[in-house]
Amino acid sequence: MLRNVLIAFGIVCITNAHAQTLQDSKMNQFIDGLMKKMTLKEKIGQLNLPTIGVTVTGPILSKNVEDKIKSGLVGGVLNTHGVMAVRTLQDMAVKNTRLKIPLFFGLDVIHGHTTLFPIPLGLASSWDMNLIEHSARIAAEESAADGLDWTFSPMVDIARDPRWGRIAEGAGEDPYLGALVAKAMVKGYQQDDLRKKTSIMACVKHFALYGAAEAGRDYNTVDMSPVKMYQYYLPPYKAAVQAGVESVMTSFNEINGIPSTANKWLLTDLLRKQWGFKGFVVTDYTAINEMTQHGLGDDQEVAKLALNAGVDMDMVGEDFLNTLEKSLKDKKITENEIDVACRRILEAKYKLGLFDDPYKNLHEESAQQIFTEANRNTARQIAEHCIVLLKNNNQVLPLKKSGTIALIGPLANSRRDVSGPHAAASDWHNAVSVMDGLKNIQGVKFLYSKGANITDDPLLLNQLNSDGGNIETDNKSAQQLIDDAVATANQSDVVVAVLGESQGMSGEAASRTDIGLPESQQTLLKALVKTGKPVVLLLMNGRPLTIEWESKNVSAILETWFAGTEAGNAITDVLFGNYNPSAKITISFPYNVGQIPIYYNHKNTGRPYGGAPIDKYRSRYLDAPNDPLYPFGYGLSYTSFNYSEVKLNRRAIKGDQKLTASVTVTNTGNLQGEEVVQLYLSDPVASVTRAVEELKGFQKILLQPGESKEVTFMLTTEDLKFYNSDLKFVWAPGEFTIHIGTNSRDVKSANVNWSR
Ligand code: BGC
Repeated sequence: MLRNVLIAFGIVCITNAHAQTLQDSKMNQFIDGLMKKMTLKEKIGQLNLPTIGVTVTGPILSKNVEDKIKSGLVGGVLNTHGVMAVRTLQDMAVKNTRLKIPLFFGLDVIHGHTTLFPIPLGLASSWDMNLIEHSARIAAEESAADGLDWTFSPMVDIARDPRWGRIAEGAGEDPYLGALVAKAMVKGYQQDDLRKKTSIMACVKHFALYGAAEAGRDYNTVDMSPVKMYQYYLPPYKAAVQAGVESVMTSFNEINGIPSTANKWLLTDLLRKQWGFKGFVVTDYTAINEMTQHGLGDDQEVAKLALNAGVDMDMVGEDFLNTLEKSLKDKKITENEIDVACRRILEAKYKLGLFDDPYKNLHEESAQQIFTEANRNTARQIAEHCIVLLKNNNQVLPLKKSGTIALIGPLANSRRDVSGPHAAASDWHNAVSVMDGLKNIQGVKFLYSKGANITDDPLLLNQLNSDGGNIETDNKSAQQLIDDAVATANQSDVVVAVLGESQGMSGEAASRTDIGLPESQQTLLKALVKTGKPVVLLLMNGRPLTIEWESKNVSAILETWFAGTEAGNAITDVLFGNYNPSAKITISFPYNVGQIPIYYNHKNTGRPYGGAPIDKYRSRYLDAPNDPLYPFGYGLSYTSFNYSEVKLNRRAIKGDQKLTASVTVTNTGNLQGEEVVQLYLSDPVASVTRAVEELKGFQKILLQPGESKEVTFMLTTEDLKFYNSDLKFVWAPGEFTIHIGTNSRDVKSANVNWSR
């Protein structure tokens, strides 16, 4: 029987492989035929990706794009969406050019298209890969129906520095979780078949190490040891490649002194030769041109370097368009290099089915699939799963559906801010603010006061508003605003203060050196706390904030991120207990900026600090703890969970045997709740220094009050592996510690001896 199954399975595999080879040879034949007809200019044209449309995502805009399309000098377009707008451009390519090669259309669809989900850092906090994949699926359906073929997502840059605004766009600090999120999103966008009408190409970015920008300043230099790179920063990109991502975007930073966009080791040796990537490489916005500022030469030189390194498509900069022909004449590049890049772009178009039907996504009736009620319901459900309960003294939450609630804060009534920094195609006027959501609750009296402006810094306000911030400032004095809010609080039973960042304070080009609440809001919060009323702090932000004072002085804290279109409804569900929070942060929240970079999987040092108050010559600060305020994996529930000791199936284990580690988790509270049970591994002795612990598994379980469940993890030597100083992925026998718990700090542990 088993044999038959194996034979049958083998046959299926062979048949699949055979079908793939047939498909590939059909594609190759088609592209060979097409490329024979193409002039050099037309081939270079395919490598050109200009921007056109109302959305602006970089400092320079493309010129005369329509003329270039008609002359066959454009391969794809970014920032145009909407069936009519896209159709007009596609017509130019298909009807006006000699070879009628269709264009593809890309946009930053980062956390939903018209129906917005929480920002990626929020999505990751759900620890729920099905929900994350589902969000990407809906984003793909909506953007395909809006004329798009391509999203510049997922961003999988590991980040350990919350000063960096783009921390909002990724999954946080952990490579294991980051790799799972990368896979889920690629699958959600591409569905393993780009020909499907509802599939779009994914683009994993920013390859590589963009999240390690020095001092958290966007676009800044990166410098990193190879071991750190392989162990912590590369796994999510690799996971996206393994999941079949069709495109990869280079990063703005340098690696080992060479900008990614000219880095042959990165784009050819690692990405293609070692990882087997088969799609195409696109630069980030004007990243080729920017290499002149990096000091690598003039436009012709940097374009040559990029092509040599393995770049296939030039986003916006047009250095390929303007210099490759000359470089060929000057014998700086070969025609074969241009052919290879052109072929990869044509292959993507073929896989998308655009040669069969260039209008595949360009039908007016598809607009009905956008911003549907079903999508909004899903967005609400997903957002609920992303809201993290950081504190809940005396069970002030969930709120009772009676009495008077003071709703206070400059973000309480904002639809723009809940939509987040990547709301390009969504009409934020349709989003649900916290106030909109709360209005649906019967039996409670709500009083509202703004209490403060987002910030009293006019320069910052100007900057935020010039970039579509839509921040309204109140003309009342700061003191008058606070007095009004305090009066409102005094008439209420509980205060809900909605504070944090305006969406533009996180995201691209939004680095901050002070990541606390803006001063205007801190002063307001202090006045509210002084009233003696219980204060629920509802945080809205795209990065960890330094909230030490807040964590000591308010009654409860909910981290809501920028939760998307349905934010207000989801937040209301959580506030009143219609949904019991289960999310956990995937990024450490520091006490203060001086602790940064701060992350749970740090090294031990030769002088680890044990916590004694007087202990000199240890690796510590005199004025702050080493640990974060809230550790990676942290998040509370309205119920409580008890963990048993860790049980191992054996204490000594050999080679390829499997280790099982289990705990029994019991819901000891009065409400049903979900818990993310996390497993970490420590490897105290190895040939290179290892992190104090690394996440190796997690399971999300649902428990009724009083219910217990045994949660079992299985580990093999794969889980023990690390990159040694020769960059070999190996494991070394010895003692290991398995930790299981509710976050990276609060764990139960057991030891195992693993021999060869
Ligand atoms: C960003 C990318 C983005 C691109 C296109 C760049 O400035 O770094 O993440 O995909 O613009 O909008």
